[in-house]
Amino acid sequence: MQKKTTMLIKNIGQLVTMQGSVPRRGRFMNEIGLITNGAVAVAGDEILAVGKSDDIVGRVELAENCDVISAENHVVTPGFIDPHTHPVFVGTREAEFEMRLAGKSYMEIAQAGGGIRSTVRQVREATGEELYATSRKTVAALLAHGVTSIEAKSGYGLSTEAELKSLEVIRRLNELEPVDLYPTFLGAHEVPDEYRDHHKEYVELVINEMIPAVAAKKLALFCDVFCEDGVFTVEESRAILTAARKAGMQLKLHADELKSTGGAELAAEMGAISADHLMFISDKGIEMLAASQTAAVLLPGTSFALGLDKTAPARTMIEKGVIVALATDCNPGSSMTESLAMIITLAALKLKMTAAEALSAVTVNAACAIGQGERLGRLESGLPADIAIWDMRDYRELPYHYGVNLVETVIKNGKVVVTR
Ligand code: NIG
Ligand code: FE
Repeated sequence: MQKKTTMLIKNIGQLVTMQGSVPRRGRFMNEIGLITNGAVAVAGDEILAVGKSDDIVGRVELAENCDVISAENHVVTPGFIDPHTHPVFVGTREAEFEMRLAGKSYMEIAQAGGGIRSTVRQVREATGEELYATSRKTVAALLAHGVTSIEAKSGYGLSTEAELKSLEVIRRLNELEPVDLYPTFLGAHEVPDEYRDHHKEYVELVINEMIPAVAAKKLALFCDVFCEDGVFTVEESRAILTAARKAGMQLKLHADELKSTGGAELAAEMGAISADHLMFISDKGIEMLAASQTAAVLLPGTSFALGLDKTAPARTMIEKGVIVALATDCNPGSSMTESLAMIITLAALKLKMTAAEALSAVTVNAACAIGQGERLGRLESGLPADIAIWDMRDYRELPYHYGVNLVETVIKNGKVVVTR
């Protein structure tokens, strides 16, 4: 017998199903599986049926107490996926933002003891409870902006104890909040104060102590490294990622963010699940990513908030067939935003991506960047009912109408978790 419908969203002005190829490459990024006057039927935590409203309404059987939502003049999309965030922090860094306006660069501030290390000092002081309370607000804001799955990095602890504390906060958020978090260990985010003159020993600590401790507690699916001039070299990144892979983690990399260092090449060579940032990716890096399954996670909010003109060469990457995803990079230093819609606006204006390409980048391709391409980012029978309802008539309003939150309802696993 057919399952009964527990939630029915009908008369949807524009239903963006994202049905189609996974991942989306090249011109396929413009295919969003659009249905006008559509409907989505949900049974429990799963999608039961997707199609034209008249058709779905005529063929599903409603459960008693079925939640019926009429969504004329609205857009419905899969819940967005944010595949790159640093949500576990306390303290803010608006003073550094002003220093950059006055002409200091991100790296100058970092080398002088600010940057990531200033957040690390505060995170180390914070109790797990305090860290949880602050991170929870960040995660709730992402959810309120239509995000139902979040990749979440540690990386503001930089000691075994404080990294475990951060990853435990992510685990707790995942258990208690109505959003899924996909944890990444980022012990190699920066070299902490006490190891400034012992860089090599810090790399050894990450490899020999932190990775085994994180793996023993099964606290991370992924391991990431900030591969950058003045932070971790390509060789150090390779060593850390090799150890992480042996410990059972999949690989990610902050690559070619501020300079071209060969990060994209390393990510492709090691079969990383994603290479992120890529403002300074080389031509060879683009070729290698295009020929790989490694997703390129682009973060135009970071260029924007750092006041840089340089952006990732998204058009070339799409033309060459790279799997392009978009993320907020939500963090207190280089991108203090929880709005993936704002990132879509920047992707349009700065990366010249169409609204449809950007939608592919925050759904299907973002799912691939967290290893969930099979099950997330599409509205399709049998997949989790993660859905966002937007107060707009046309999906192209997403980049166009900027700086406000147009999310009306967020549904996670078949339950309404945000209404506005
Ligand atoms: O992705 N690049 C390294 N990590 C972050 C910045 C973190 C910070 O400044 O606190 C980023 O941009
Ligand atoms: Fe980042």
